[in-house]
Amino acid sequence: MPVRILADSDVLSRRLLVLHETVTSPARQVTRSARIVVVGSSNTDMVVRVSTLPRPGETVIGGDFFTARGGKGANQAVAAARAGGSVALIACLGTDAIGDETLAALAAEGIAVDAVRRMAGTRSGVALIVVDERGENSIAVAPGANALLAPEQVVSCAELLSPRDVLLTQLETPLESVLAAARAANGATARVILNPAPARDLPDELLSLVSVLTPNEAEAARIAGVPVDDHHGLEDAANALLRRGVGAVVITLGAAGAYVATTEHRETIPGYRVEARDTTGAGDVFSGALAVALADRVPLGEAVRFANAAAAISVTRDGAQPAAPRRAEILQLIGS
Ligand code: RIB
Repeated sequence: MPVRILADSDVLSRRLLVLHETVTSPARQVTRSARIVVVGSSNTDMVVRVSTLPRPGETVIGGDFFTARGGKGANQAVAAARAGGSVALIACLGTDAIGDETLAALAAEGIAVDAVRRMAGTRSGVALIVVDERGENSIAVAPGANALLAPEQVVSCAELLSPRDVLLTQLETPLESVLAAARAANGATARVILNPAPARDLPDELLSLVSVLTPNEAEAARIAGVPVDDHHGLEDAANALLRRGVGAVVITLGAAGAYVATTEHRETIPGYRVEARDTTGAGDVFSGALAVALADRVPLGEAVRFANAAAAISVTRDGAQPAAPRRAEILQLIGS
C-alpha cells in the first residue's frame, strides 16, 4: 500500500487540530469511521525501579514496586484509543483474576473486546520489568495465554477489517498468527503496521505484506541483518527492509525522533526534548499513535510527528499503559 510523506511541520498541528474538531463534531463524525484492529499480547507488568540494571548473577536492591497493565498489543490498543482511534483488540487472556481485570480495563478504555478470548486453564501473560534511573529497562515475559493466539482466531475476525482500516500488530504472539492477520488485512486491502518487537528473523512474505514497519534501531539491525551504529547504518537497514517488500520503514530513535524511509523519500523527524523517567512501552505508544494518524489519512511524515509527541509524553511517566497520553495532551505538545 503506497505511503505518502509530507514534511511540513507547520501544517501538522493545524491539520491535527482540524481532525480533532472533526472527531468532536457530531455532524462530521462519519469521517472517523476507520478502525484500528490490534492483534497482539496482553500482560500484567510487575515493575521494580533500580539505580542500575542487574548484570547476570547480580542482585540489585531496588526502590518501589508497582504493577501496571502492559503487553505490547494491549499497550498499542490503549495508546491508539487514548490518541483518538476507534480500536478493536484480538488477543488471548487466561481465565484468572488478572484476565477479568484486564478485560474490564480494556473495555473501559473504549476498546472493542469481542474478539478477546479467554483460554480455559491458562494464566494471563506476565512481564517482570526492572527500570533504571535513566528510564531504561530489562523485561522478561511469561506469555501464558498470549502463546495460544491461533491463526484461526485471527482469521475468524477478518470481517472486522475494511479497506479504510489499519491492522496494527507486533511479535509477542505466535508468528503464524501475525502472518495470518497480515494476509487477512491485505485481502481486505487494509494497511498493515508491524512493530517488530521483540525482534526476531522474519519471512519475506510477512515483510511484503507490511505497509509501515516501526522497529527501533536494535530491531532494525536484527531484522535487516546490518549494523545500525550511525546514519549510514540507518540507511542500509532501511534499504534492506524496503528491498524485502516493506512499504515504508520508520526507525524509532528515542529522544532523537524517527528516521522515515520509503523508496522515494528519506527524512529524520526530530523528537521532543523531555526528561525520561520510564521508557517502558514508549515504542508501543509510538505505534498506537501512528496508527491513529494513518487511519485518519494523515500523511506519513505528519503521522510520525504525532507519534513522536505521544511517545515523548509517555516516557515522562511510570509504566506502559498508565503512561499513554490522551489526544488533547499530544496536540498540546505539538502546538507548544
Ligand atoms: O513494550 C513494553 C511491554 O513489553 C511491557 O508492557 C511488557 O508487558 C512487555 O510486553
